[in-house]
Amino acid sequence: MDGRAIGIYDSGIGGTTVFSELRKLLPNENYIYFGDTKNLPYGTKTKEQLLQISSLIFDFFQKKNVKAVVMACNTTSSMVYDEMRGKYDYEIYPIIQTAARCIAPRYNGKIGVLATIATVASNKYKDEFLKNNPNLEVIQKACPDWVKIVESGDYYSEDNLQIIKNSLFPLVEQGCKNIVLGCTHYPYLTDVLNELTDNSIHFINPAKDFTEYIVQNLRQKNLVSSQKTLEPVFYVSADAENFMRVSKTFYQLDKLPIVVNL
Ligand code: DGL
Repeated sequence: MDGRAIGIYDSGIGGTTVFSELRKLLPNENYIYFGDTKNLPYGTKTKEQLLQISSLIFDFFQKKNVKAVVMACNTTSSMVYDEMRGKYDYEIYPIIQTAARCIAPRYNGKIGVLATIATVASNKYKDEFLKNNPNLEVIQKACPDWVKIVESGDYYSEDNLQIIKNSLFPLVEQGCKNIVLGCTHYPYLTDVLNELTDNSIHFINPAKDFTEYIVQNLRQKNLVSSQKTLEPVFYVSADAENFMRVSKTFYQLDKLPIVVNL
């Protein structure tokens, strides 16, 4: 039994789509969530910028004495995980590398990936999928502004629906029946995506496979906690009110997140 907290982070509310799954599987853990709302979106940042930002976040979790950090962010998993691994005392779980291992063997032929500009440019999903299943044809599409739409909570305005269609339809037109939501913000758009495609597409949220792997791995390493002591603590780097308002689809906070300047 290890009562130290599990750290989990994203640029904003996206990580709650992972956190909500993890908490279902491991309710007896102490959680510290960090949403880097001051720096979002991550998807248009350079590797150098993401390295600088991530170092501050990982140092923050080190000071909090966590036992593990969940990278509930595809963009930093693709861009900086290799630099971060091995530098800290705690376990580090990157979403793409972990989830792709579980998802890839279940599919054949075309698989679509919707993700941020940086994640698509990194080819991380493509590489990890093909490593685990060479029979896949991975078709990626970047989704500029989807994160902004999710963080605004306004998914159905005419302009925003057009922005969503612009990235979604090219994958549908190329025959992708299975499409990975390769950014943790996108599961907030699941209803919109199903409506726009008449429920004809299977949208894959990697959070389930990701969190199942984390649980299994923490158990193997005797790092799970059997006694819950605290409520999850939420930190953001800006806009606490907006975070609380727009995250409620996946997690209803009972008080405002704490604003920290890393
Ligand atoms: N939700 C994150 C991801 O999975 C970050 C998105 C962003 O801030 O651009 O990539």
